[in-house]
Amino acid sequence: MAKLPKLLVAVLSTFLLVLTATAPARAAAPDPTSQRYLVSGPKTTQQRSQVARTGAAIDAVRADGSLEISAIPSELKEIRKLGHTVTALPSPTSHPRAATSYHTLAETLAELDAVVAAYPQIARKIAIGKSYQGRDIVGVKISDNVATDENEPETLYIANIHARERLTAEQALDLIGTLTRGYGSNTRVTNLVDSREMWIFPVVNPDGQVYDMTSDTQPGRMWRKNRQPAPTDLNRNFPYRWGCCGGSSGNVSSETYRGPSPESAPETRVLTNFVRSRIVGGRQQIKLFLDIHSYGNLVLWPFGYTYNNTVPGAMSADEEATHRTIGRQLAASNGFTPQQSSDLYITDGTTGDWTWGDQRIFSFTYELGGGGFYPSPSRIDSLVAGVRDSLLLLTEYADCPYRAIGKQGQYCSA
Ligand code: ARG
Ligand code: ZN
Repeated sequence: MAKLPKLLVAVLSTFLLVLTATAPARAAAPDPTSQRYLVSGPKTTQQRSQVARTGAAIDAVRADGSLEISAIPSELKEIRKLGHTVTALPSPTSHPRAATSYHTLAETLAELDAVVAAYPQIARKIAIGKSYQGRDIVGVKISDNVATDENEPETLYIANIHARERLTAEQALDLIGTLTRGYGSNTRVTNLVDSREMWIFPVVNPDGQVYDMTSDTQPGRMWRKNRQPAPTDLNRNFPYRWGCCGGSSGNVSSETYRGPSPESAPETRVLTNFVRSRIVGGRQQIKLFLDIHSYGNLVLWPFGYTYNNTVPGAMSADEEATHRTIGRQLAASNGFTPQQSSDLYITDGTTGDWTWGDQRIFSFTYELGGGGFYPSPSRIDSLVAGVRDSLLLLTEYADCPYRAIGKQGQYCSA
């Protein structure tokens, strides 16, 4: 009789196996998508950081303190729990694609080709790696004798790390145009091209940019992150105090998803490897870094992960004063508001925290103006023109940023 239970077990387990194998997967809940809201109530930096801590992306702070955000439902619930009032923001008004419109990625690349063809002595195209979907991440180097790696201070500008921040690529293209067209005629530009090596990358998140722009509803999809299967906020993915401080989200659906590990996103790694590659003879050649975002009319500097102005071993009083002084001069030029990043709200894993914290490159983040992600194309020229001079000013400091606080003798004499 010992056979019967054995048989039973066999039949039963086969049945169970079939049952498990054919059981329909639990109906996957649709991935929550973010929507735009206005949050009334927050007034202080701490209150803004509490909102940022939920994972919501704070897109802008209005004059009355209220916040324009992008949030998924779970984040919205937490924000309401903080006691704030939340209302939906209208979707951006569409506008026809005019001749003065935003560049598509293809148009941007064509413009870079045209620039290097027209100014081969001072402009050179470089591809520093590929995005997740295999697109080249392309920029230009601008300098006299551009084919030679001369011993000149270098500067790095990146734009469009957030896909929907379309005006930022226009600002980078304008800088490329200013530096090339003005060479030989404009003294200020000529001096910079002769004495600096400038690296400019107008679209460092090409997959996101193309996706944002490929939309039935113009002007765009309001897309922020890259296009990995678990889309990552590249500006929370950098490997310095990554995920340390409530300034990013571990939720894949969040607009501030930091990725599974530091520099997990191909685009992040392309950028960090490029910056590391500019260490020549043990010295980082890049002296100044600017990450161009929109919108908010701000000039920001590190750190974003801590409210502290100085950090032992990572931000001395002189280093902080240099950032602050240059930042205020940039703001005086372009009309933006200057502040330490964390005075806005806490973030972690951002570009500038890494370029300063890890590479000791004086670092700034702009939030351009325009009042939204897609200002009417008719406004591009004037918005970009208002920021143009501040980029030249920043570049001029590359010889010795400490000059801003009068300490070039102490820090920069050979
Ligand atoms: N708005 C940009 C972002 O969310 C820049 C953040 C600036 N840093 C900060 N600590 N607030 O990525
Ligand atoms: Zn941004």
